[in-house]
This record gives sequence, C-alpha cells and structure tokens, in this order.
Amino acid sequence: MPVIRGRTVPSIPGGMAPFIDQRQYAPATDRNRESICTVLKENLPATGTALEIASGTGQHAVFFAEQLAPRTWLPSDPNPIARDSIRSWRAIAALNNLHEPLELDVTQSQWPQVVIDWQQQMGEPVPVIRAIVNINMIHISPWAACEGLFSGASQLLSTGDVLYLYGPFKRAGQHTAPSNAAFDQSLQLQNSTWGVRDLEAVCEVAQSAGFALREVIPMPANNFSVVFHKV
Ligand SMILES: C[S@@+](CC[C@H](N)C(=O)[O-])C[C@H]1O[C@@H](n2cnc3c(N)ncnc32)[C@H](O)[C@@H]1O
Repeated sequence: MPVIRGRTVPSIPGGMAPFIDQRQYAPATDRNRESICTVLKENLPATGTALEIASGTGQHAVFFAEQLAPRTWLPSDPNPIARDSIRSWRAIAALNNLHEPLELDVTQSQWPQVVIDWQQQMGEPVPVIRAIVNINMIHISPWAACEGLFSGASQLLSTGDVLYLYGPFKRAGQHTAPSNAAFDQSLQLQNSTWGVRDLEAVCEVAQSAGFALREVIPMPANNFSVVFHKV
C-alpha cells in the first residue's frame, strides 16, 4: 500500500479504499520500547489479550504486538487524534494480533463496560483480557485517572492477571532524580492536576482495588516498571 505521511493516497485501481497516513511519532517510544518489552516478556501471562490504556501514537502497540505474539494486543486512547494514529500504524504493520483501538477514558466509570461490549462483539472465542498495560499516563492526567485505572482493571482482570505501569515515580515522597523534580514542576505548570506520583500512594490505590505489588524495576532515564497482579 503506498503511504505518504499526512496525505491521502488515491485508491488503487482494483478497489482499495484511499489511505490517509495519520501516524504520529513520539521519539521517546523508540528509546524505551526495548527495555519495556523485556519486562513485559517476563511478566505478562503467556497467552490472552493485553489491553493497553493510553496507547498514544500506537508505536508501542505495533512493536509490542509483534514482539509479544501469540498474545493479542488491544490498544486504546480517549484522544481521537491518537486513535487515528494508532489505526495508521496498525494498517501499515498489518499484524493479525493487533486489534483496532478502543475509545477508553479511565476517568469514566463505564470504561470497563466498553471493553466488555467489545469482547461480546468479537464473538467466540471471546478474547480474554489477561493484562492491562499503562505507560506514561498517570502523571499526565488527574489522580482520578489512576483511581479509575485500578478500579476498572479490577472489574476486567482475574486472579493472577497483571497490571503493568511505566513512568517516573516518587519513592516515599522524594523524587528519584533532579530531572524528575524538574519534570514534575513543568507538568504542574501545564496542569495543576498533573504531576509525578508517589509510588506508595499508587500502591495504596492498587491494594484497595485488589492488586498486590509484584515488582518495582528501575528502568533507564529514571523511570520505573511497576508490576501488580490481581489477588
Ligand atoms: C504521554 S502520552 C503517553 C502515550 C504512550 N503510552 C507512550 O508512552 O508513548 C499520555 C497519554 O495518556 C492519554 N490519557 C490521558 N488521560 C487519559 C485518561 N483519563 N484515560 C486514558 N488515557 C488517557 C492521552 O490521551 C495520551 O495518549
């Protein structure tokens, strides 16, 4: 399929629909995807569907779907521009284990129902969600997004299933690096409800929703992988 970034390519004689390349590109994903993928390989259940909350551009989705097969990957994002980008990356990657993105906003209490409706539409065999992956969201959204993520995840996941978080975190109220402190300040200047979260506060929310902390893994660039499992 011919691809011209941001432009419509006329349909090819023979019937293909016009393709509009709406891929967005976030350079950080190229830097962090390998190390995140290594952790996911070690921690996700070997089969089933991984639901990604806040997929952003969709670059991670295509990379992880390819690397983590035979698992299937279900991306999502509340932002329509992000979902268009995910669709474009998906169309070009042409992977049979990568689903169309869902519109999910974890501050909306009905978000798990959107996933359940999708599972029903998919028909037999119903894709079973065995993991929820959330990268670089809870510091760039209100605290209610962290709460909504865990409360919704507890409705979708079963005992032993995994919830994976990635991003910068404070430990015991302290930043782990000066660059994270500066990043926190810049986030709060953009939006007073955003900010680098305290890992202990996140763990309290997780525990109330029925998740136990399995592992905290330091990652490059002062980030952490945080692996929870459903009790
Ligand atoms: C910094 S981007 C990270 C995107 C991607 N995970 C990555 O690492 O490249 C933050 C993403 O969180 C999404 N987001 C913000 N608030 C959200 C919410 N309440 N529910 C779900 N996603 C949300 C945004 O639309 C955006 O795509």
